[in-house]
Amino acid sequence: GAEEDWDIRPPVVTVMGHVDHGKTKLLDALRHANVAAKEAGGITQHIGAYQIVTELEGNERPVTFIDTPGHESFTAMRARGAKVTDIVVLVVAADDGVMPQTVEALNHAQAAEVPIVVAVNKIDKEGANPAKIRQQLTEYGLVAEEYGGDTMFVDVSATTRQGLDDLLSAILLTADASLDLRANIGQDPQGVVIEGKLDKGRGPVATVLVQRGTLRQGDSIVAGDAYGRVRSLLDEHGNKLKEALPARPVQVVGLTSVPRAGDTFLVVEEDRIARQIADRRQARIRNAQNASMRKRISLEDLD
Ligand code: GTP
Ligand code: NA
Ligand code: MG
Repeated sequence: GAEEDWDIRPPVVTVMGHVDHGKTKLLDALRHANVAAKEAGGITQHIGAYQIVTELEGNERPVTFIDTPGHESFTAMRARGAKVTDIVVLVVAADDGVMPQTVEALNHAQAAEVPIVVAVNKIDKEGANPAKIRQQLTEYGLVAEEYGGDTMFVDVSATTRQGLDDLLSAILLTADASLDLRANIGQDPQGVVIEGKLDKGRGPVATVLVQRGTLRQGDSIVAGDAYGRVRSLLDEHGNKLKEALPARPVQVVGLTSVPRAGDTFLVVEEDRIARQIADRRQARIRNAQNASMRKRISLEDLD
């Protein structure tokens, strides 16, 4: 695209950490929402994606947040979250300390070479020991600035809202200092599927993150081996959007089947082409499945 098509996009920030350390509640506090209270068993079981306009010292800045589950069984979602993000906010409960999924999350972030901001949460609780968290994390290469390292640690409480502005400052500072947040809005739209599901009323619905270009209602889209015409684009509140710019998470309605999380999507000129690409991909998947089935059968023949 032309030079004038380049524009600043919001940073994408993925919140990760051990189960129940307060990721969802922290995000709720940042965006004045109440998702955590509605979750079954208090456990996040899917990836949530929200764009919020943060306000810091009178300046408004949009930031895209991705909430990941901390339960041990959701490793793949954490890995995907780390791959699509600019920054990881590693949430560690100050009364619980570094736990297995804390380490797993920081490993994903380090593997993806993404800067980490540590949010030491629940500092309102009795037994909270933020200094101990800093000490524990040095073992994993995360050394706090106040100890001579280059990792920002921020003490917060999602309950009392203490430290939220400091956390936002740390996020925006990291974004401005170490990231190139330009995206080409004139290019062919492209991005990644964060989640796919079959909705009773609306059919296949994919939550996608636009990574470049501008996704519009009416576009012919291929997502993994699913295809279709974008019938509607919805934001996290269910509001209809005409278009989605880079770093915007958006629900796409109109696909003929449900794509898989992690699939990339692209926009093509005609429905016919979208269908051809999807058909080819489906055939490739079927062939691979048949091949592995044949292998299984021949192994069983050996018994
Ligand atoms: P998963 O997504 O299931 O991994 O959990 P999570 O990390 O999103 O934690 P969640 O937001 O569900 O919070 C877990 C529990 O900790 C809830 O009971 C919250 O109310 C509580 N909690 C979260 N943040 C704080 C905090 O700052 N202080 C106190 N006292 N409790 C908190
Ligand atoms: Na939880
Ligand atoms: Mg959660």
